[in-house]
Amino acid sequence: MQTVKTIVELRAILGNRRRAGERIAFVPTMGNLHAGHIRLVETARRQAERVVVSIFVNPTQFGPGEDFETYPRTEAEDREKLLAAGADLLFLPEIRNMYDPGAKTVVSVKELSDLHCGAFRPGHFDGVATVVAKLFNIVQPDSAFFGLKDYQQFVIIRTMVRDLNIPVALVPVETVREPSGLAMSSRNGYLTETEKVQAAKLYQALLNAKEAVLSGGREAYADIERQAQSFLAEAGFKTDYFSICRSSDLVAAVPEDREIVILAAARLGKTRLIDNIAFSK
Ligand code: PAJ
Repeated sequence: MQTVKTIVELRAILGNRRRAGERIAFVPTMGNLHAGHIRLVETARRQAERVVVSIFVNPTQFGPGEDFETYPRTEAEDREKLLAAGADLLFLPEIRNMYDPGAKTVVSVKELSDLHCGAFRPGHFDGVATVVAKLFNIVQPDSAFFGLKDYQQFVIIRTMVRDLNIPVALVPVETVREPSGLAMSSRNGYLTETEKVQAAKLYQALLNAKEAVLSGGREAYADIERQAQSFLAEAGFKTDYFSICRSSDLVAAVPEDREIVILAAARLGKTRLIDNIAFSK
């Protein structure tokens, strides 16, 4: 596995491979890799000759007071995991190479970026959309792999790709979970052992709410959301949101909607966890 730090070098290598007729799959990450990230790499591996993985802790998607400085950086371990998973090329750009000090352009996917996580993390999704657009321009992949764990992020990137005619095929990958049901996340490392046990209740709340929606009783979605919030409060969470949505555009679902996603974010101690469950009615 080759490691490349500069955009110029990456373009030269990938240009040669593209001319040789190889398809390039891309998995963008912020590192501290776990089984969820590795699932993306393995899925990519089956669909293209070359798999490029980027590790870049992107400063523009962290708000003031968030964990940019303390975000876990584990380059040596990440490299081992990527090698074992069959990645071909690791792109490790530096901040000064990714962002010109005079940069003036931001990619902003309207409305979708203000909902749910966007309401609690202003500017976060502009940072994500901008860096992913830049990475797509740098790598120019045929396909790119994203986890559904970050459901809103996936919908925003899908919308950006459509709106800006970016020639990349997006591939969504199911959320990888711990045996307890807890969605794998780099931020799970912030949890104490006791919190880790509590944390699995977030997925439990989503499963309960899904059952309630599917049972088709007369219960209003707002009541199902309220019950989930009390369940989470009892389990020690502070809930940011718990919303039953239409999966196409993430607005509040009405009973006629068939494609549903329930999105949730809740805090345990100092750790913010997100999760979701998507299903058809
Ligand atoms: P990061 O949190 O490192 O996640 C990288 C990719 O791994 C994302 O597509 C995310 O959805 C996926 N992922 C994370 N946990 C997962 C799990 N448990 N199961 C399946 N996939 C999982 O998301 C980002 O980085 C950044 O915002 C990025 C897109 C790289 C832009 O900076």
